[in-house]
Amino acid sequence: MNRAGFPAGFLWGSASAAYQVEGAYQADGKGPSIWDTWVRLPGKTFQGANGDVAADHYHRYREDVGLMKELGLKAYRFSISWPRIFPQGKGKINQAGLEFYKNLIHQLTANGIEPVVTLYHWDLPQALQDEYGGWESRDIIADFANYAKTCFDAFGGQVKYWIVLNEPNIFTQLGYLLAMHPPGKSDLRTYLHTYHITALVHATVVKLFKEQGHPGHIGSSIAFTPAYPASDKEEDRRALTNYYATNCWWLMDIYCKGEYPARGKEYYTQAGAMPQVSAADRELLRRGAELADFLGVNYYQTATVAHNPIDGVGFGAMNTSGKKGTQTENGVPGLYKTVFNPNIEYTDWDWAIDPDGLRYGLLQLKERYGLPVLISENGLGAFDSLEQGRVHDQYRIDFLAKHIRACSQAIAQGVELWGYCTWSFTDLFSWLNGYQKRYGLVYVDFDSGTLQRVKKDSFYWYKEVIASNGDICLETEG
Ligand code: BG6
Repeated sequence: MNRAGFPAGFLWGSASAAYQVEGAYQADGKGPSIWDTWVRLPGKTFQGANGDVAADHYHRYREDVGLMKELGLKAYRFSISWPRIFPQGKGKINQAGLEFYKNLIHQLTANGIEPVVTLYHWDLPQALQDEYGGWESRDIIADFANYAKTCFDAFGGQVKYWIVLNEPNIFTQLGYLLAMHPPGKSDLRTYLHTYHITALVHATVVKLFKEQGHPGHIGSSIAFTPAYPASDKEEDRRALTNYYATNCWWLMDIYCKGEYPARGKEYYTQAGAMPQVSAADRELLRRGAELADFLGVNYYQTATVAHNPIDGVGFGAMNTSGKKGTQTENGVPGLYKTVFNPNIEYTDWDWAIDPDGLRYGLLQLKERYGLPVLISENGLGAFDSLEQGRVHDQYRIDFLAKHIRACSQAIAQGVELWGYCTWSFTDLFSWLNGYQKRYGLVYVDFDSGTLQRVKKDSFYWYKEVIASNGDICLETEG
């Protein structure tokens, strides 16, 4: 493998999302989001945790940006909370909401940190869910475009990187197929229909951005889980093809090529679940794909895929407790199932730790789409402990170092990689796993309630990574 460095100007970043860090869920005129509602339903999140206060970033953003500056961060990815700007999803603008993000963006740029802004990281205004069922209705396209235009007009001068949607694949799967996120539905047709609408929103907003001539770059971030076959057997290799056709390529082709893959269409048509795609949709999606500047990739793990007979497993249990081994096999009967890979280590939440999967996935994306990539999330969720004012998270350092090295290998193999954002900057609310699953470079003392920030060992290490433009990861074998 070639040893390659990172290009000059590489965006060494770190990321967060509004609902997971801000708190202040009712402050200064913010309207309720579907997550404010969901966390109040019994049994929906780990031990009933919610983001009412979270890391209180809304009130502590100056301190947080101060830490980013100390770290030498080049880019900070965060999301705007739609219901802070439009408490009802549309109509009257809440100026205090705009003011908060204006201040945050100013604080970042004044400290030499590039803001990377996500417009939607899952906190849909509850009012739009109530009015027309949120993502189930095409009405959301105009309301989202109006919200996006408001943000472009307000922040366009200072923000050069925009991510329209964060992981539309995850919020539609969990919200409409697996009933684990709001609005808690479980129906294949509705899942595919809402996913189609997310693609229309993405394309509409990308087009709007370009037509209005805003400077900068725009794309969306998809969660990408590349996969291997469990064995060389013909049936496992077929399962792998099914996985890509109905999963990865299904989800990404419509954003990056403007059309669904043929094999996936066949399958979903037979299953009676193919979304309606009009000629106007096709034209819009194709245009959106042409105009998007980059693909955001959230990479955490790979999957290992095996044959799953027609009477095989469906969706199994998800490990949200951190008790290793509680995740069960899951799959789509007749298509594929995902199995544990004996050659790979797993986290306490049963996520496969596979740095080379990142290199492999980036190369697949290069072949298929040829788009520049921004890694908008990569990180390790773990139990951390605060001991005498320090957090010794060597395991996180090892994880990140190996993934950064995998990025450098992908670059050496021709991938155009613009940046890398660790997930996450501070510890935050993990949607289904509460506060015990920590990702941050900065520890937040949720247990005592002081929310005190403590720099973890990984913070000091990432500071050196940035200062050396990634070189220290190429030199050390971890
Ligand atoms: C991504 C999301 O799915 O993964 C983040 O964009 C999320 O919001 C992250 O926190 C890690 O997932 P989890 O479930 O461990 O918090």
